[in-house]
Amino acid sequence: MRPIEIAKDIYLLSAVDWNIRDMHGYSTPSGTTYNAYLVMDEKVTLIDTVKKEFEDDLIEGISQIIEPRKIDYVISNHTEMDHSGGLPRVMHRVGEDTPLYCSKLGLKNLSRHFRQRWNYQPVEDGGALSIGKRTLAFLETRMLHWPDSMFTYVKEDRLLFASDAFGQHYAGPERFDDEVGEAIMPHAAKYFANILLLYAPLILKLVEKVQKLGLPIDTICPDHGIVWRKDPGKIINAYVRWATQQPGRKAVVVYDSMWHSTQKMAEAIVAGLLEEGVRAIPMSLRCSHRSDVMTEVLDAGAVVIGSPTLNNGLFPTVSDFLTYMKGLRPKNKLGAAFGSYGWSGEAAKLISRELEAMDFKLVHPGLKIQYVPDDQGIEACRELSKTIAAALPK
Ligand code: FEO
Repeated sequence: MRPIEIAKDIYLLSAVDWNIRDMHGYSTPSGTTYNAYLVMDEKVTLIDTVKKEFEDDLIEGISQIIEPRKIDYVISNHTEMDHSGGLPRVMHRVGEDTPLYCSKLGLKNLSRHFRQRWNYQPVEDGGALSIGKRTLAFLETRMLHWPDSMFTYVKEDRLLFASDAFGQHYAGPERFDDEVGEAIMPHAAKYFANILLLYAPLILKLVEKVQKLGLPIDTICPDHGIVWRKDPGKIINAYVRWATQQPGRKAVVVYDSMWHSTQKMAEAIVAGLLEEGVRAIPMSLRCSHRSDVMTEVLDAGAVVIGSPTLNNGLFPTVSDFLTYMKGLRPKNKLGAAFGSYGWSGEAAKLISRELEAMDFKLVHPGLKIQYVPDDQGIEACRELSKTIAAALPK
Protein backbone atom coordinates (compact mmCIF):
# COMPACT_ATOMS: atom_id res chain seq x y z
CA MET A 1 0.00 0.00 0.00
CA ARG A 2 1.25 3.45 -0.92
CA PRO A 3 0.00 6.15 1.47
CA ILE A 4 -0.97 9.36 -0.37
CA GLU A 5 -1.03 12.71 1.40
CA ILE A 6 -4.37 14.27 0.41
CA ALA A 7 -4.07 17.35 2.65
CA LYS A 8 -1.30 18.43 4.97
CA ASP A 9 -0.75 15.51 7.37
CA ILE A 10 -3.83 13.64 6.17
CA TYR A 11 -3.16 10.40 4.32
CA LEU A 12 -5.25 8.16 2.13
CA LEU A 13 -4.57 4.47 2.79
CA SER A 14 -6.25 2.71 -0.09
CA ALA A 15 -6.40 -1.08 -0.33
CA VAL A 16 -6.95 -1.79 -4.01
CA ASP A 17 -9.07 -4.87 -4.70
CA TRP A 18 -8.43 -5.38 -8.40
CA ASN A 19 -10.02 -8.82 -8.54
CA ILE A 20 -13.38 -8.53 -6.80
CA ARG A 21 -16.16 -9.04 -9.34
CA ASP A 22 -19.19 -9.31 -7.06
CA MET A 23 -20.09 -7.15 -4.08
CA HIS A 24 -23.14 -8.74 -2.47
CA GLY A 25 -24.94 -9.23 -5.78
CA TYR A 26 -23.60 -6.10 -7.49
CA SER A 27 -21.14 -6.74 -10.33
CA THR A 28 -17.83 -4.95 -9.95
CA PRO A 29 -15.99 -5.40 -13.26
CA SER A 30 -13.57 -2.62 -12.34
CA GLY A 31 -12.82 -3.95 -8.84
CA THR A 32 -12.97 -1.55 -5.90
CA THR A 33 -10.90 0.06 -3.19
CA TYR A 34 -11.33 0.15 0.59
CA ASN A 35 -10.12 3.53 1.82
CA ALA A 36 -8.89 4.23 5.33
CA TYR A 37 -7.46 7.60 6.34
CA LEU A 38 -4.76 8.63 8.81
CA VAL A 39 -4.73 12.10 10.35
CA MET A 40 -1.35 13.04 11.82
CA ASP A 41 -2.14 15.55 14.55
CA GLU A 42 -1.26 15.78 18.25
CA LYS A 43 -3.54 12.79 18.58
CA VAL A 44 -2.87 10.52 15.64
CA THR A 45 -6.25 9.33 14.34
CA LEU A 46 -7.12 6.46 12.03
CA ILE A 47 -10.47 6.70 10.24
CA ASP A 48 -11.96 3.37 9.18
CA THR A 49 -10.09 0.23 8.24
CA VAL A 50 -10.32 -2.10 5.24
CA LYS A 51 -11.68 -5.52 4.32
CA LYS A 52 -10.12 -8.30 6.34
CA GLU A 53 -8.15 -9.71 3.39
CA PHE A 54 -6.27 -6.41 3.17
CA GLU A 55 -5.55 -5.88 6.90
CA ASP A 56 -1.82 -6.60 6.55
CA ASP A 57 -1.68 -4.22 3.63
CA LEU A 58 -3.22 -1.51 5.83
CA ILE A 59 -0.80 -2.12 8.71
CA GLU A 60 2.08 -1.95 6.24
CA GLY A 61 0.72 1.32 4.81
CA ILE A 62 0.32 2.86 8.28
CA SER A 63 3.85 1.73 9.19
CA GLN A 64 5.27 3.78 6.32
CA ILE A 65 3.97 6.88 8.13
CA ILE A 66 4.10 5.97 11.81
CA GLU A 67 4.50 2.98 14.09
CA PRO A 68 0.87 1.72 14.44
CA ARG A 69 1.13 1.68 18.26
CA LYS A 70 1.45 5.48 18.17
CA ILE A 71 -2.09 5.84 16.86
CA ASP A 72 -4.12 7.52 19.61
CA TYR A 73 -7.66 7.25 18.30
CA VAL A 74 -9.54 5.00 15.92
CA ILE A 75 -12.82 6.12 14.33
CA SER A 76 -15.27 3.70 12.74
CA ASN A 77 -17.64 5.59 10.46
CA HIS A 78 -19.35 2.40 9.32
CA THR A 79 -19.41 -1.18 10.55
CA GLU A 80 -19.96 -3.10 7.30
CA MET A 81 -17.18 -5.63 6.95
CA ASP A 82 -15.51 -4.00 3.97
CA HIS A 83 -14.54 -1.19 6.38
CA SER A 84 -14.36 -2.95 9.73
CA GLY A 85 -13.07 -6.40 8.77
CA GLY A 86 -9.52 -5.24 9.49
CA LEU A 87 -10.49 -3.70 12.84
CA PRO A 88 -9.48 -6.61 15.13
CA ARG A 89 -6.00 -6.69 13.59
CA VAL A 90 -5.69 -2.92 13.75
CA MET A 91 -6.82 -2.77 17.39
CA HIS A 92 -4.37 -5.52 18.23
CA ARG A 93 -1.49 -3.55 16.70
CA VAL A 94 -2.63 -0.14 17.90
CA GLY A 95 -3.54 -1.31 21.40
CA GLU A 96 -6.78 -2.93 22.51
CA ASP A 97 -7.51 -0.05 24.93
CA THR A 98 -7.20 2.66 22.28
CA PRO A 99 -10.36 4.82 22.24
CA LEU A 100 -12.60 3.64 19.41
CA TYR A 101 -15.08 6.30 18.32
CA CYS A 102 -18.28 5.31 16.54
CA SER A 103 -21.98 6.14 16.55
CA LYS A 104 -24.21 4.57 19.21
CA LEU A 105 -25.50 2.10 16.65
CA GLY A 106 -21.91 1.55 15.57
CA LEU A 107 -21.14 0.39 19.08
CA LYS A 108 -24.04 -2.03 18.94
CA ASN A 109 -23.04 -3.40 15.53
CA LEU A 110 -19.30 -3.64 16.20
CA SER A 111 -20.01 -5.46 19.48
CA ARG A 112 -22.16 -7.96 17.63
CA HIS A 113 -19.67 -8.49 14.87
CA PHE A 114 -16.54 -8.86 16.94
CA ARG A 115 -17.51 -9.65 20.57
CA GLN A 116 -14.52 -7.63 21.78
CA ARG A 117 -14.36 -5.43 24.87
CA TRP A 118 -12.76 -2.51 23.08
CA ASN A 119 -12.65 0.97 24.57
CA TYR A 120 -15.77 2.16 22.75
CA GLN A 121 -16.49 5.88 22.77
CA PRO A 122 -19.94 6.34 21.24
CA VAL A 123 -20.50 9.82 19.85
CA GLU A 124 -23.64 11.91 19.41
CA ASP A 125 -24.83 13.38 16.14
CA GLY A 126 -23.07 16.78 16.09
CA GLY A 127 -20.50 15.65 18.65
CA ALA A 128 -16.88 16.80 18.35
CA LEU A 129 -13.42 15.51 19.19
CA SER A 130 -10.32 17.68 19.45
CA ILE A 131 -7.21 15.96 18.15
CA GLY A 132 -4.87 18.97 18.48
CA LYS A 133 -4.85 21.52 15.69
CA ARG A 134 -8.02 19.99 14.34
CA THR A 135 -11.49 19.28 15.67
CA LEU A 136 -13.39 16.38 14.18
CA ALA A 137 -17.17 16.74 14.00
CA PHE A 138 -19.44 13.71 13.75
CA LEU A 139 -22.61 13.67 11.70
CA GLU A 140 -24.95 10.69 11.92
CA THR A 141 -26.00 9.47 8.48
CA ARG A 142 -28.28 6.59 9.43
CA MET A 143 -28.99 4.13 6.60
CA LEU A 144 -26.30 5.61 4.36
CA HIS A 145 -25.51 2.82 4.08
CA TRP A 146 -26.31 1.05 7.38
CA PRO A 147 -28.02 2.28 10.58
CA ASP A 148 -24.61 2.89 12.18
CA SER A 149 -23.17 5.06 9.41
CA MET A 150 -21.74 8.50 10.14
CA PHE A 151 -19.56 11.15 8.54
CA THR A 152 -16.51 12.72 10.15
CA TYR A 153 -15.89 16.34 9.16
CA VAL A 154 -12.65 18.28 9.61
CA LYS A 155 -13.48 21.96 9.75
CA GLU A 156 -9.86 23.15 9.55
CA ASP A 157 -9.27 21.28 6.28
CA ARG A 158 -12.86 21.63 4.98
CA LEU A 159 -12.69 17.90 4.42
CA LEU A 160 -15.40 15.27 4.78
CA PHE A 161 -14.74 11.61 5.51
CA ALA A 162 -17.93 10.35 3.92
CA SER A 163 -17.89 6.61 4.55
CA ASP A 164 -19.88 4.83 1.80
CA ALA A 165 -21.47 8.01 0.44
CA PHE A 166 -20.06 9.47 -2.80
CA GLY A 167 -18.08 6.26 -3.40
CA GLN A 168 -17.55 4.22 -6.51
CA HIS A 169 -16.47 0.63 -7.02
CA TYR A 170 -13.43 1.45 -9.10
CA ALA A 171 -9.90 0.13 -8.74
CA GLY A 172 -8.06 2.16 -11.34
CA PRO A 173 -4.61 3.66 -10.90
CA GLU A 174 -6.10 7.12 -10.22
CA ARG A 175 -6.88 8.33 -6.72
CA PHE A 176 -8.50 11.73 -7.40
CA ASP A 177 -11.36 13.12 -9.49
CA ASP A 178 -9.00 15.40 -11.42
CA GLU A 179 -6.91 12.39 -12.43
CA VAL A 180 -9.76 10.22 -13.68
CA GLY A 181 -12.07 12.92 -15.06
CA GLU A 182 -15.56 12.27 -16.40
CA ALA A 183 -14.88 8.52 -16.68
CA ILE A 184 -15.63 8.09 -12.98
CA MET A 185 -19.26 9.25 -13.24
CA PRO A 186 -20.72 5.98 -14.64
CA HIS A 187 -19.09 4.15 -11.70
CA ALA A 188 -20.56 6.68 -9.25
CA ALA A 189 -24.00 6.35 -10.91
CA LYS A 190 -23.90 2.55 -10.73
CA TYR A 191 -22.91 2.73 -7.06
CA PHE A 192 -25.79 5.11 -6.31
CA ALA A 193 -28.33 3.05 -8.28
CA ASN A 194 -27.39 -0.22 -6.60
CA ILE A 195 -26.49 0.80 -3.06
CA LEU A 196 -28.12 4.09 -2.19
CA LEU A 197 -31.21 4.45 -4.37
CA LEU A 198 -33.62 3.13 -1.73
CA TYR A 199 -32.32 5.83 0.65
CA ALA A 200 -32.83 8.63 -1.88
CA PRO A 201 -35.21 10.59 0.41
CA LEU A 202 -32.63 10.44 3.23
CA ILE A 203 -29.92 11.69 0.87
CA LEU A 204 -31.98 14.75 -0.03
CA LYS A 205 -32.57 15.44 3.68
CA LEU A 206 -28.87 15.00 4.44
CA VAL A 207 -27.78 17.40 1.70
CA GLU A 208 -30.30 19.92 3.06
CA LYS A 209 -28.98 19.41 6.61
CA VAL A 210 -25.35 19.92 5.51
CA GLN A 211 -26.36 23.06 3.60
CA LYS A 212 -28.18 24.39 6.70
CA LEU A 213 -25.14 23.68 8.87
CA GLY A 214 -23.12 25.73 6.37
CA LEU A 215 -20.22 23.27 6.30
CA PRO A 216 -17.80 24.26 3.56
CA ILE A 217 -16.45 21.18 1.80
CA ASP A 218 -13.31 21.30 -0.34
CA THR A 219 -12.59 17.58 -0.30
CA ILE A 220 -14.82 14.51 -0.01
CA CYS A 221 -13.07 11.32 1.04
CA PRO A 222 -15.26 8.26 0.46
CA ASP A 223 -14.43 4.76 1.64
CA HIS A 224 -14.49 3.43 -1.95
CA GLY A 225 -12.87 4.75 -5.09
CA ILE A 226 -11.44 8.17 -5.78
CA VAL A 227 -11.26 11.27 -3.56
CA TRP A 228 -13.21 14.30 -4.80
CA ARG A 229 -10.81 17.25 -4.44
CA LYS A 230 -11.18 19.23 -7.66
CA ASP A 231 -14.94 19.47 -7.79
CA PRO A 232 -16.77 17.94 -4.80
CA GLY A 233 -19.86 19.90 -5.86
CA LYS A 234 -20.08 17.75 -8.95
CA ILE A 235 -20.80 14.55 -7.03
CA ILE A 236 -23.07 16.35 -4.54
CA ASN A 237 -25.12 17.77 -7.43
CA ALA A 238 -25.22 14.36 -9.10
CA TYR A 239 -26.50 12.83 -5.84
CA VAL A 240 -29.27 15.42 -5.63
CA ARG A 241 -30.18 14.75 -9.27
CA TRP A 242 -30.17 10.97 -8.86
CA ALA A 243 -32.04 11.12 -5.55
CA THR A 244 -34.72 13.38 -7.03
CA GLN A 245 -35.43 10.70 -9.67
CA GLN A 246 -36.88 13.00 -12.30
CA PRO A 247 -38.07 10.67 -15.05
CA GLY A 248 -36.30 11.10 -18.38
CA ARG A 249 -37.60 10.36 -21.88
CA LYS A 250 -35.91 7.04 -21.64
CA ALA A 251 -37.19 3.47 -21.39
CA VAL A 252 -35.33 0.37 -20.33
CA VAL A 253 -36.72 -2.79 -21.93
CA VAL A 254 -35.65 -5.65 -19.68
CA TYR A 255 -36.40 -9.20 -20.74
CA ASP A 256 -35.44 -12.81 -21.05
CA SER A 257 -36.61 -15.27 -23.65
CA MET A 258 -36.83 -19.06 -24.08
CA TRP A 259 -37.26 -19.47 -27.87
CA HIS A 260 -36.75 -15.85 -29.03
CA SER A 261 -40.44 -14.89 -29.08
CA THR A 262 -40.29 -12.60 -26.06
CA GLN A 263 -37.04 -11.32 -27.54
CA LYS A 264 -38.86 -10.48 -30.80
CA MET A 265 -41.46 -8.58 -28.78
CA ALA A 266 -38.70 -6.70 -26.93
CA GLU A 267 -37.02 -5.76 -30.21
CA ALA A 268 -40.30 -4.51 -31.68
CA ILE A 269 -41.03 -2.46 -28.55
CA VAL A 270 -37.54 -0.93 -28.61
CA ALA A 271 -37.82 -0.12 -32.33
CA GLY A 272 -41.21 1.51 -31.72
CA LEU A 273 -39.90 3.57 -28.82
CA LEU A 274 -36.94 4.79 -30.84
CA GLU A 275 -39.31 5.83 -33.62
CA GLU A 276 -41.23 7.86 -31.06
CA GLY A 277 -38.06 9.68 -29.97
CA VAL A 278 -37.59 7.73 -26.74
CA ARG A 279 -34.09 6.72 -25.69
CA ALA A 280 -34.80 2.98 -25.52
CA ILE A 281 -32.26 0.57 -24.06
CA PRO A 282 -32.84 -3.18 -24.58
CA MET A 283 -31.34 -5.27 -21.81
CA SER A 284 -31.46 -9.04 -22.08
CA LEU A 285 -31.09 -10.53 -18.62
CA ARG A 286 -29.13 -13.37 -20.21
CA CYS A 287 -26.44 -10.81 -21.16
CA SER A 288 -26.77 -7.95 -18.67
CA HIS A 289 -26.14 -8.13 -14.95
CA ARG A 290 -29.01 -7.01 -12.74
CA SER A 291 -26.82 -4.20 -11.34
CA ASP A 292 -26.10 -2.85 -14.83
CA VAL A 293 -29.82 -2.87 -15.57
CA MET A 294 -30.45 -0.89 -12.36
CA THR A 295 -27.90 1.69 -13.47
CA GLU A 296 -29.92 2.27 -16.64
CA VAL A 297 -33.15 2.34 -14.63
CA LEU A 298 -31.78 5.22 -12.50
CA ASP A 299 -32.68 8.02 -14.94
CA ALA A 300 -35.30 6.18 -17.01
CA GLY A 301 -38.92 7.27 -17.11
CA ALA A 302 -40.21 3.79 -18.00
CA VAL A 303 -39.24 0.23 -17.25
CA VAL A 304 -40.79 -2.31 -19.61
CA ILE A 305 -40.33 -5.92 -18.53
CA GLY A 306 -40.78 -9.05 -20.58
CA SER A 307 -40.83 -12.69 -19.58
CA PRO A 308 -41.99 -15.90 -21.17
CA THR A 309 -44.33 -17.97 -19.04
CA LEU A 310 -42.43 -20.89 -17.58
CA ASN A 311 -44.34 -23.50 -15.57
CA ASN A 312 -47.18 -21.01 -14.94
CA GLY A 313 -44.73 -18.46 -13.60
CA LEU A 314 -41.95 -16.05 -14.46
CA PHE A 315 -38.64 -16.89 -16.03
CA PRO A 316 -36.13 -17.12 -13.13
CA THR A 317 -33.88 -14.28 -14.33
CA VAL A 318 -36.91 -11.98 -14.49
CA SER A 319 -37.99 -12.96 -10.96
CA ASP A 320 -34.45 -12.27 -9.79
CA PHE A 321 -34.43 -8.82 -11.37
CA LEU A 322 -37.88 -7.90 -10.03
CA THR A 323 -36.85 -8.89 -6.51
CA TYR A 324 -33.64 -6.88 -6.81
CA MET A 325 -35.33 -3.78 -8.23
CA LYS A 326 -38.13 -3.94 -5.63
CA GLY A 327 -35.56 -3.71 -2.84
CA LEU A 328 -34.02 -0.59 -4.36
CA ARG A 329 -37.40 1.18 -4.56
CA PRO A 330 -37.10 3.32 -7.70
CA LYS A 331 -39.67 6.13 -7.85
CA ASN A 332 -41.56 8.07 -10.52
CA LYS A 333 -41.50 5.30 -13.13
CA LEU A 334 -43.96 4.14 -15.72
CA GLY A 335 -44.19 0.39 -16.15
CA ALA A 336 -45.45 -2.17 -18.62
CA ALA A 337 -45.17 -5.93 -19.01
CA PHE A 338 -45.07 -8.24 -21.98
CA GLY A 339 -44.24 -11.81 -22.88
CA SER A 340 -44.82 -14.79 -25.09
CA TYR A 341 -46.54 -17.90 -23.78
CA GLY A 342 -47.61 -21.36 -24.89
CA TRP A 343 -50.83 -22.23 -23.05
CA SER A 344 -51.32 -20.56 -19.66
CA GLY A 345 -49.66 -17.11 -20.06
CA GLU A 346 -49.38 -15.80 -16.50
CA ALA A 347 -46.05 -13.95 -16.87
CA ALA A 348 -47.25 -10.51 -18.01
CA LYS A 349 -49.87 -10.43 -15.24
CA LEU A 350 -47.33 -11.43 -12.60
CA ILE A 351 -44.90 -8.74 -13.75
CA SER A 352 -47.66 -6.12 -13.74
CA ARG A 353 -48.59 -7.10 -10.20
CA GLU A 354 -44.98 -6.69 -9.07
CA LEU A 355 -44.63 -3.34 -10.80
CA GLU A 356 -47.81 -2.10 -9.15
CA ALA A 357 -46.46 -3.21 -5.78
CA MET A 358 -43.44 -0.99 -6.51
CA ASP A 359 -45.74 1.99 -7.17
CA PHE A 360 -44.97 2.03 -10.87
CA LYS A 361 -47.71 3.64 -12.95
CA LEU A 362 -48.86 0.94 -15.36
CA VAL A 363 -49.58 2.20 -18.86
CA HIS A 364 -50.90 -1.15 -20.15
CA PRO A 365 -52.54 -4.19 -18.51
CA GLY A 366 -49.83 -6.48 -19.94
CA LEU A 367 -49.23 -7.59 -23.52
CA LYS A 368 -49.10 -11.34 -24.06
CA ILE A 369 -48.73 -13.17 -27.36
CA GLN A 370 -49.17 -16.90 -27.86
CA TYR A 371 -46.12 -18.70 -29.20
CA VAL A 372 -44.43 -16.62 -31.94
CA PRO A 373 -45.50 -13.01 -32.64
CA ASP A 374 -46.94 -12.59 -36.16
CA ASP A 375 -47.39 -9.26 -37.97
CA GLN A 376 -50.39 -8.48 -35.81
CA GLY A 377 -48.40 -9.28 -32.67
CA ILE A 378 -45.53 -7.04 -33.77
CA GLU A 379 -48.05 -4.29 -34.45
CA ALA A 380 -49.41 -4.73 -30.90
CA CYS A 381 -45.84 -4.26 -29.61
CA ARG A 382 -45.51 -1.07 -31.68
CA GLU A 383 -48.81 0.17 -30.21
CA LEU A 384 -47.45 -0.50 -26.73
CA SER A 385 -44.39 1.62 -27.61
CA LYS A 386 -46.66 4.47 -28.69
CA THR A 387 -48.60 4.28 -25.41
CA ILE A 388 -45.39 4.36 -23.38
CA ALA A 389 -43.93 7.20 -25.47
CA ALA A 390 -47.10 9.26 -25.06
CA ALA A 391 -46.95 8.89 -21.28
CA LEU A 392 -43.26 9.84 -20.97
CA PRO A 393 -42.15 13.46 -20.52
CA LYS A 394 -41.41 15.22 -23.83
FE1 FEO B 1 -18.69 -0.09 1.78
FE2 FEO B 1 -21.73 -0.28 3.46
O1 FEO B 1 -19.95 -0.69 3.02
